[in-house]
Amino acid sequence: MSDDGPTPCERDLDRMDVHELGRLGAHLDDVEVVDDAPPHPPGSREERRAARRVATWFALSIVGAVAFVAVFVLWPWQYTSTGPDEAITSWYTPMLGITFAVCVLSLAVGLLRWSEVLVPPDVAVQERQDGPSPPIAQRTAAARFVEIVEQTGLRRNPLLRRTVLAAGTAFAGVLTVTFLGTLVRSPWPGGGPAPLLVTGWRSPGDERTYLRLDTGDPHSVTLVRPADVAVGGLLTVFPFRESERGDPERLATVLRSADDPVILMRFAPGTPVVERAGQEDFHLGGLYAYSKICTHMGCPASLFEQTTLRILCPCHQTEFQANEFARPVFGPGARPLPQLPLAVDERGYLYARHDFIEPIGPGFWERDPRG
Ligand code: FES
Repeated sequence: MSDDGPTPCERDLDRMDVHELGRLGAHLDDVEVVDDAPPHPPGSREERRAARRVATWFALSIVGAVAFVAVFVLWPWQYTSTGPDEAITSWYTPMLGITFAVCVLSLAVGLLRWSEVLVPPDVAVQERQDGPSPPIAQRTAAARFVEIVEQTGLRRNPLLRRTVLAAGTAFAGVLTVTFLGTLVRSPWPGGGPAPLLVTGWRSPGDERTYLRLDTGDPHSVTLVRPADVAVGGLLTVFPFRESERGDPERLATVLRSADDPVILMRFAPGTPVVERAGQEDFHLGGLYAYSKICTHMGCPASLFEQTTLRILCPCHQTEFQANEFARPVFGPGARPLPQLPLAVDERGYLYARHDFIEPIGPGFWERDPRG
């Protein structure tokens, strides 16, 4: 605290306005205020013009917030992997991002411009000191806060006050709607097979879903026989149904769909195998089929170490023990690769008896953690 001059008494303090009290507090704290002149004379035309510019940013932020809530609530949002609605639903997430960005960036720019064009720079220099503040310092500090509020121009500019309050409220509304909306909105309120729970291996009726190779020509279909997989070897296969043979688009789409790739492998005779409870009959002799989609973050687990029988995901190095129901034994993945139940038809071609019995790939909000 400065020792210069007598300390003002209570009556002197009562006579001072917030500006004088603020300067006194700075002086008592050995603070030298170098520059605290407002950018524009208070109440001047320049100040009002600057306030309108700042308010425009806050107004734009409000527009972004309202648009975000409208998109969140009204825009078609259900995920569809194919079909005529894809063009509409695929805009849902980008529109959320665009409107949220407009809301947040406009609010941030408004606050920055406000501090640049309306708030005094308040450049001050202070010596460091130790110890608690005396009561007079506390009072002057409180006065300084009041003065700062005055300097923001909020009292003098009702337009600025209203827009900044409205923009802050709108932004809080965005956060509230986002938080509450994700709690109450179910991706599949009508039930039934939801896209995250089924894959291309699910047959709509009694039709069989065969294992198919990717030969490089999406329109040629090569089915797989058990003898096609060498001992210790591995193939990547995709689903195929006879009803799709004449559908070139479907034949090509299946090879690109993230849900579909499956690793088909054959263990050498005598390989010790641990079956997963409830899936003891999913293999066909030494043939085992697992989803290729990593249960950590969904990369294709495309590497196989023959000596250790481990399937490796190159993204974050999760290793799945292939002969122990593809359970993770190293890395961040926490769940085994789902297993596809195999069978062979009367012509000797492999097919899937049914879809995976659990969701493939990474976990998601509504996934049953026990599944
Ligand atoms: Fe496979 Fe991360 S995505 S380890």
